[in-house]
Amino acid sequence: MISQQQIDEIIERNDIGDVIGEYVKLERKGSGYSGLCPFHNEKTPSFSVHEGKQIFKCFGCGAGGNVVNFIMRAENLSYPEALEFLAERAGITLEKSISKAQEEKNKIKNDIITVNKLAARFFYDTLKKSPAAQKYLFDRGIRAETVKQFGLGYAPDSWDALYKHFENNRIAPDIKLLEKAGLVTARKDKPGCYDKFRNRVIFPIFDVQGNVIAFGGRVMDDSLPKYLNSPETAAYSKGNNLYALNVAKKAQSDRVIIVEGYMDCIALHKAGINWAVASLGTALTQAQAKLLKKYFNEVIIGYDADSAGQKATMRGLDILAQAGFRVRVLSLADVDKNVKDPDEFLRKHSVDDFLKAVDLSKSLVEYKISKIAEKYPVTVLESKAMFLKASMQVLAGITSASEKDLYADWFAKKYNISKEALLSEMEALQNGDYVAKADTVTRRIKKASGVDSVDGANAESHSKTPEEIKLDKHIKTLIILMSEDKKVMEKYYKKVYDIADSDTNKLLLEKLKSRYDNLSKTGPEAILADAADQSDDEVRVLTDLISKWMRPPDIQAACETLVKNCIIINCERKIACINEILRNTELTSEERTALLKETAAIIEERKKYKNGN
Ligand code: GTP
Ligand code: MN
Repeated sequence: MISQQQIDEIIERNDIGDVIGEYVKLERKGSGYSGLCPFHNEKTPSFSVHEGKQIFKCFGCGAGGNVVNFIMRAENLSYPEALEFLAERAGITLEKSISKAQEEKNKIKNDIITVNKLAARFFYDTLKKSPAAQKYLFDRGIRAETVKQFGLGYAPDSWDALYKHFENNRIAPDIKLLEKAGLVTARKDKPGCYDKFRNRVIFPIFDVQGNVIAFGGRVMDDSLPKYLNSPETAAYSKGNNLYALNVAKKAQSDRVIIVEGYMDCIALHKAGINWAVASLGTALTQAQAKLLKKYFNEVIIGYDADSAGQKATMRGLDILAQAGFRVRVLSLADVDKNVKDPDEFLRKHSVDDFLKAVDLSKSLVEYKISKIAEKYPVTVLESKAMFLKASMQVLAGITSASEKDLYADWFAKKYNISKEALLSEMEALQNGDYVAKADTVTRRIKKASGVDSVDGANAESHSKTPEEIKLDKHIKTLIILMSEDKKVMEKYYKKVYDIADSDTNKLLLEKLKSRYDNLSKTGPEAILADAADQSDDEVRVLTDLISKWMRPPDIQAACETLVKNCIIINCERKIACINEILRNTELTSEERTALLKETAAIIEERKKYKNGN
């Protein structure tokens, strides 16, 4: 990471006229230069460089930006590469600077990993001395090879064996560090501390690189809690890691199976299914989905058959689908209704049987529909109607034409419905852009009002409506205005942040704020510098705005007007969105009334702003 200040320095010391002059024959013209655009073929010059604002722009092909953007295009470099290129050109040495706080955190993280490694070694060695722990693992089918592969261990039945071990070896007399690692707890009554893991079988948790970042410890009888896990530390965050991913990533597999527990995961690896990971009893997070996406394209969810497991499956489905996975759900109960998890299954059945069950796993649509069928049995006519209604919402979510046909076929046969009727209803629902009523209504209204930044990927891929373009320009203008005056920034920061419609604009705001906090350079050029690594479109819009930019005499009044206009645009988008829903969606009379009421409130709000508060 190159710091904001250093980026500013690089831009300042590479005058845009000088740099571009090395690539393009420029002629002086007004407050800058013009020449033939190097990025498209032309005979008359439409490429111009503005010296005062340090930007370039081509009216022919639309290319534009600051000196960094120019080098990215001219030398075909990525953003950081272009910065390095320009740093070198100006003779600036880049110190890869990370913030002090980050540095401190990294140090603690590394220290924790160091003591964890020593602790893991201690637990591993101690297991060899404990016949009871060895017997426990043996009885659960775990042999020496697996113990070694997963570094399993045993924490002795003692208050401070681990602590003493550290003390005796003079490795880490630093109680604070051991506490931070979650390995010991300081005594309240007297000096000293006691071990956190006592008389438990130990499962070290590794990160993708293979560092020991935490531990899980299981009791060897029925006492509670069954598992004790390391707390969140500088080295370990539950939602950012997956157990055994360090092994599974090497499997060269396109698919991965996610199970709930350590034991399930280990049982699978032992059976040669080395593309398994465990989510360790937490709900799957977006960060975990993203991490998995680096290595796999298909996820098979193999959670427990109990209701907690099924709930977690439902939640996981959407997160994984959103991350771009093909998602399927394993149902071992279909093969043997008496087993509750993969570990148990493999103790009773062969690996082949397991793999067969994997091949039969339900797709996302099949699984969701089977869950609806559980809720509304199709044998009763009345509940079958409910079942169909709910299923339609799932089916209408299928966008690919071939899948639509495939699922319509399957559904029609399975539930004895006419395929034609089904397809036409799916079509109708999709045209109305209606997925799940209540849910969609709120989601779409949120989206229209710009509060929804959850699906940033979607926001990028869909082409913007004229209102969205206008809103985006307003927000960017506001940011430029705020870059001119700290007081104005402070006054409008929160307001603008709330109405900002895109992640990029929010990011630019955050960066601007940190510029003021660090007393770095501000102003339109600084905003452009902060945006240089954004998409071409974003850079172009900003360059256009800045090229025409003139500081208004009353910045605050200008902000006030823009904010008002943004709110009015948002009101109009919301109203249009509700109207569309009212027109195209089947609604109950209560839902209709609620929406009409909402429209009235929004119209009232818009009136307020139109009349100038
Ligand atoms: P066993 O087969 O009973 O050894 O356990 P398992 O690995 O099959 O785990 P289970 O399905 O019972 O639970 C799934 C995961 O949730 C475990 O691997 C733990 O990470 C976590 N977990 C289970 N019980 C507890 C508990 O009592 N406390 C905590 N903190 N976590 C637990
Ligand atoms: Mn189990």
